Amino acid sequence: MLSNVRMPLAISTVLFGVTVTHPTETSDLFSQAQATASLLRNTVDTPPRVAMILGSGLGALADELVDPTTIDYRDIPGFPVSGIEGHAGCLVFGELEGVDVVVMKGRAHYYEGWSMKEVTFPIRAFSLLGVDHLVVTNSAGGADPDYIPGDLMIISDHLNLTGDNPLRGPNESDFGPRFPDMTDPYDSELRELMHQVAADLDVSIKEGVYAGMAGPTYETPAEVAMVRQGGGDAVGMSTVPEVIVANHCGIKVAGVSCITNMAAGLSDQKLSHSEVKETADRVRETFVGVIRNFVAALSQRL
Ligand code: HPA
Repeated sequence: MLSNVRMPLAISTVLFGVTVTHPTETSDLFSQAQATASLLRNTVDTPPRVAMILGSGLGALADELVDPTTIDYRDIPGFPVSGIEGHAGCLVFGELEGVDVVVMKGRAHYYEGWSMKEVTFPIRAFSLLGVDHLVVTNSAGGADPDYIPGDLMIISDHLNLTGDNPLRGPNESDFGPRFPDMTDPYDSELRELMHQVAADLDVSIKEGVYAGMAGPTYETPAEVAMVRQGGGDAVGMSTVPEVIVANHCGIKVAGVSCITNMAAGLSDQKLSHSEVKETADRVRETFVGVIRNFVAALSQRL
């Protein structure tokens, strides 16, 4: 587990009997991310600029990489290992549509008991590896009554309803500012590109606000009603921590949700993980196609 204790590298001097520590210090988190980034750098010829997080059911895309190098999360210092079925944890480096990418096949979740710093550690390491674009995917429940299971939704913005924030605590100033701007957390140009790619594939795609919950319970109908009133279109239990940290590091984000079910209270059905998996499987081919073509289109802009 990562510790959040800061290790001052600075020299302390005593002035008029008062100990003054000079502000040149580095954190455990930064040095651990540096160590992990250098380990990863040694495993690949070309460090990628594009990272992808594949949510449940989408892991198949990682198997389509050309010239893959796979590393189990267990073998990467600092990477949290998910115990959730369908979230197999490994990192795959390789080429997708001619672009060098690093793919997280599966992710750890806050509800498993990992801290937000632990959940987002891979993003820190990617940032030091030279990643400046992140593509996130997830499954989510539709809170907008016009959505139907199987819809894809470009994430335009999020509501952090987890009650926590990965940037809480001393600022990691080696990565970014104390109060990061979050006015365009899901880069507007990348969203535009995602729309173009979907249109070219003749895939109808929604755009909406993702409400990030702590989980692991699905929401109550009252919580979904609150999300809806607050402008949320979909609810899920991932993504928000990683996107906050990506923004802190200056990484541009594109996000797409697969609406796997209607959120609680919007249909007569009870919610179940098997429905989530079934819908994700049904939509997988279309979803993979959109993400693959998005990476191809992105390569023109890197
Ligand atoms: N709520 C929260 N997370 C989810 C849902 C949901 O309805 N569907 C898939 N992940």
